[in-house]
Amino acid sequence: MSKLFNLSYPEEDIPNILFKNSHKCNIDLSIFKEYNKNLHNVYLMEKTNKNVKYLMNRVFRKPDISNMHYVFHVFGVKLDHFYSIRLETLSNKNNCCILYESIKNENGIILPKKLGKANSINRKFKTLICTQEGPEVYNFVRQYDYCGRQKILNKNRYKVLYSLYNHLELGGNFVFVLANNYCSCQDFEIIYVMSLLFEKITICDGIYCHGENYLGEKRLKKNILQKMYLNSFVLTPKPYYKDLIIYLKNMFKAKNDFIIPFLTKNEDTIIKNYYNFLLQMLEESPFTNKKFIYKQLHFHFIESVRRTIINNNFVRIHSAIKKEEGNNIKKIIKKYKLSKCIEIGMAFGISASYILSVNEDVSLISIDPNQSTQWKNYGIKLLKEFGYNKRHKLMEETSYLALPKLLRDYGEGSFDFVFIDGFHTFEMTNLDFFYAVHLIKVGGVILIDDVLHKSVAQSIKFFDTNYPHLQRINVYKTQAAYLKKSEDTRNWDFYAPF
Ligand SMILES: C[S@@+](CC[C@H](N)C(=O)[O-])C[C@H]1O[C@@H](n2cnc3c(N)ncnc32)[C@H](O)[C@@H]1O
Repeated sequence: MSKLFNLSYPEEDIPNILFKNSHKCNIDLSIFKEYNKNLHNVYLMEKTNKNVKYLMNRVFRKPDISNMHYVFHVFGVKLDHFYSIRLETLSNKNNCCILYESIKNENGIILPKKLGKANSINRKFKTLICTQEGPEVYNFVRQYDYCGRQKILNKNRYKVLYSLYNHLELGGNFVFVLANNYCSCQDFEIIYVMSLLFEKITICDGIYCHGENYLGEKRLKKNILQKMYLNSFVLTPKPYYKDLIIYLKNMFKAKNDFIIPFLTKNEDTIIKNYYNFLLQMLEESPFTNKKFIYKQLHFHFIESVRRTIINNNFVRIHSAIKKEEGNNIKKIIKKYKLSKCIEIGMAFGISASYILSVNEDVSLISIDPNQSTQWKNYGIKLLKEFGYNKRHKLMEETSYLALPKLLRDYGEGSFDFVFIDGFHTFEMTNLDFFYAVHLIKVGGVILIDDVLHKSVAQSIKFFDTNYPHLQRINVYKTQAAYLKKSEDTRNWDFYAPF
């Protein structure tokens, strides 16, 4: 086996693959080494420092902007066709890799077509890069001469970049196998570099690569797969091969600058760097709808590091629902086809953003006595930035004053959805709920946040037992929801112990 380059990798880390015309790399690797050293130190720190661990996971390892489709979107990748490698068990229990190709039909719908067993396919890719480490893919690459050129199993993605520099020619097809429908920062870089090198790049969904028992398969329902087939891409070629070295050096330098604040535990710089990274990615994209993408980036930023950007400042979000709770709200609004909404407690406008993001028919009245004072209108500004302001109204007063006004002005049953996340005392939760029940129509939903708070938990017990015309529906564990099944037919002295 030939060495790829004179790096000090542990021997077992070198891909166990033969490279034909292998020769040493003459690039100055000092920045790369420095980066590796720093990264190693951060890994060590992470074990003892919770904050570093949190940020490493959020900012460094899993920037989920990198939802594969989204990243390609940012790169301006066009929908064309899609290959998917799938492991299937044959009748004799032998596993075999099957390749699917998804092609657009005349309606523009991309349908997966089975090309056949890997060894019977009469097509050769010039290079296959595999970011999967699953044995099936490894065998797939190794056993069948699927690649006209070299075959690379990638453990360390940077090595791939370097090895490509040494071993690839311009042109040809690059096949990129993704671990699942997320793609990391590094994947992103590989795609970028490959877009400089190859004429055509095919992105593969490697979701099945781990085999049939892979958890992901159970999780991935048919419609999600279908969606993935609909989102396949071929990159625009950019034959700037000679720029690769410059790109790599700059990339490692940038990575190093990115990792150093972790060593100094400089949280603000970490967050700022991360934000700049997102922005740069957006700036470099050939897309024209950057304003729209910026909103997505901002919201991703809010969800991932819980900071919002107000007048170029990063403000820590300390009072808002979490991503799971936000998605829960969206799910409920969609499922019960709710559109006229009220929320009690606006703060940074995060729950409001989730609510208003569902579709254009949704409108929202937020009630919060402290929006302009305590919250410096952060919520209002965010909704304006996201373009939701036209469908939003604020009542800047306490819920116990605002709710009876709404009831008087709009009438009983004139809303579809009330989200209660204001003042969390027992009696205030009961009061908000009391009005909410009157304000929503039959078929409407009330959702209460923070049900693990002792006071709210007591209220929930009361609602569960004393409102027979409401049906509790299953939602995320920190919230409780009630569907109004019918009008109130209780006797005037109704009471159930709780
Ligand atoms: C937990 S925060 C709301 C977070 C927001 N729902 C989100 O997830 O983005 C609670 C909010 O309730 C507001 N609040 C406090 N007392 C209130 C009252 N009596 N009526 C309505 N809102 C109130 C506070 O100003 C604060 O903004």
